[in-house]
Amino acid sequence: METLVKWKEEYSVNIASIDDQHKSFVKIINELYDAFMRKEEEDALGDIVVELADYASLHFKTEEGYFAKTNYPEMAEHVMEHEYFIEQVKAFRNEIKMNTKATTPKIMFFLRDWLTHHITNIDKRYQSHLIGHGIQ
Ligand SMILES: [Fe+2]
Repeated sequence: METLVKWKEEYSVNIASIDDQHKSFVKIINELYDAFMRKEEEDALGDIVVELADYASLHFKTEEGYFAKTNYPEMAEHVMEHEYFIEQVKAFRNEIKMNTKATTPKIMFFLRDWLTHHITNIDKRYQSHLIGHGIQ
């Protein structure tokens, strides 16, 4: 299988439940990339984007649940990042209906850039706070 994003140790936030979910995200992005490389995106894209949206909402719920439980001081800013992502995916779902071929690379690169930036810049900020509150 072709991969667009490779998991790196530097992406780890040292919280197993969150790392596992981030790895699943990487897997979904790579599924999309693989379909694109095999030119099967027109059949696969709709399903993968639904899978992605469902997975994102589960993952954001997990993170936001930890924030609420531990009174994370940067919760509001972080939730805004998640909302931006959800809005982008919604917009892409509309674009797909109009032009799947042209939308696929846009989605792939958006996902890769968003995830790697979000993990290394935004998620890393909660690492010591959540670990300090016993989140694993
Ligand atoms: Fe996050």
